[in-house]
Amino acid sequence: MMIPSAPPTHDLAGTTPRPADVLALVDALAAGETLTLRLDLASARAILATLTAERKGLFEWSPESDGDALRVDVTRRDATPGSKRGVFEALSWDHDRIDAFELGAFAARAAGDLETARALFERFEVGLFRHIGFEEDLLFPAIESAAGFPPHAGPTAVMRAEHVEIRAAVRLLHDAIGDPSADAESLRGRLHATLGPHNEKEERILYPMADRALPGAGPDELVAAIQAYETS
Ligand SMILES: [Fe+2]
Ligand SMILES: [Fe+2]
Repeated sequence: MMIPSAPPTHDLAGTTPRPADVLALVDALAAGETLTLRLDLASARAILATLTAERKGLFEWSPESDGDALRVDVTRRDATPGSKRGVFEALSWDHDRIDAFELGAFAARAAGDLETARALFERFEVGLFRHIGFEEDLLFPAIESAAGFPPHAGPTAVMRAEHVEIRAAVRLLHDAIGDPSADAESLRGRLHATLGPHNEKEERILYPMADRALPGAGPDELVAAIQAYETS
């Protein structure tokens, strides 16, 4: 069986790459293709600012903590320069990106490659916890204020409660994924029972609601803030 793997990585941590060289790397991507950059914090922020300014609307990306560095998955959108992004598109992309790591982790475990299983599950966990973080810190407050929901009631309150269950299921799997004697499949069932319907509700209801409710350039500005969101 082919084990789904992480995208090709350019590990530039410990160096000070010229933004032009990094732009050349991402410019070579075809629409839908992804690469991963690993960069020191200062370089990463400078390069992401360059991407924002000089490649507006052309890429999705997702900075994640990786030790002292930032790891950034960059995907080329099928879009024209300067085109605006919406919440639905950007966050559905992140769901798919993150889910692929979980799929890969279990495929590796099934093939007996526990080291790869642990590494891919780590990527799943870091990506998902960051995703939950920007939803709770940026997206939900924006929806609550634009649509008039209180944080303790309504759809965002339901999503927050589901995040608690999702985090708990992921933490249990964190320990089980690389342990051949653990019943990881039943824990996986518990995760999927919550995460699957949760992501579906977000993609079917909440993200389109955000794209409708946020005024003017609101969705594009929110996606830009999400792209800059880092967890420690
Ligand atoms: Fe969520
Ligand atoms: Fe989500």
